[in-house]
Amino acid sequence: MGQLIDGKAVSKEIKTSVASEVEELKKSGITPGLAVVLVGSDPASRTYVTNKEKDCASVGIYSEEYALPETTSQKELLDLVHTLNAKKTIHGILVQLPLPKGLEEEEVIQTIHPLKDVDAFHPENVGRIMIGNCRFLPCTPAGIMELIHHEGISAEGKRCVVVGRSNIVGKPMAMLLLHENGTVTICHSKTKDLKKICLEADILVAAVGRPKFITADMVKPGAVVIDVGMDRDENGKLCGDVDFSEVQHVASRITPVPGGVGPMTRAMLLKNTITAAKIQNGIPVL
Ligand code: GUN
Repeated sequence: MGQLIDGKAVSKEIKTSVASEVEELKKSGITPGLAVVLVGSDPASRTYVTNKEKDCASVGIYSEEYALPETTSQKELLDLVHTLNAKKTIHGILVQLPLPKGLEEEEVIQTIHPLKDVDAFHPENVGRIMIGNCRFLPCTPAGIMELIHHEGISAEGKRCVVVGRSNIVGKPMAMLLLHENGTVTICHSKTKDLKKICLEADILVAAVGRPKFITADMVKPGAVVIDVGMDRDENGKLCGDVDFSEVQHVASRITPVPGGVGPMTRAMLLKNTITAAKIQNGIPVL
């Protein structure tokens, strides 16, 4: 039976170290600040934003929330981003995605100052991820790498399969695994022989957004299985992209949902906010 990878416990360790870094920065008169922008009333996005603010408070990071109505125009949103770009007390800006229909996500992302882009979604930061010279690591993929390392696992020389090709998770995840000398395959909805490719994976990352999509017959015995999904099953119960109850018997290690990748994503945002505060104050980032 696969061993659980406890993202909650690992994220706690990271938060403890972030809290002591915040304390150090405060001694130099710097309070890291994060602005979180939520447009519309999507309940999942609302929960994510509330959690991000709670996380900030728990480690001493200052946060501001901007909850804008569904009817917000592109110009109003861009004006807010410009204001936050110029605001000295704010080092990181996060605009919760997806935005309501009618708003241009790409333009909003490109308007965030690259040094305040704690999601690492701005094309400049995405380019840096490609090159392997990141200032901010994208939160979910970075959290997954931390989890893997914490387990004493390296991607070097391993067959890594990422199922899902989103800009937020799939693509940057593949890059981080590649930078660690993994042999990486990205699969998606048009992939032929998906099962065959997944069965080759030593490290399998599921980021498709479909409940229990990865079944036990798609997993090589002993593989490390990372579940990025936050889905609902047929009974409305929270579940991941992996059929956990079956796959846990095949994998050597597996992340649960909840309590796996999610808490790590949140912890990495805090880390990025500190990095942003350091960069903007000319403090070397280790
Ligand atoms: N929506 C889902 N995940 C994320 C994330 O990591 N950052 C932002 N800004 N929006 C999201």
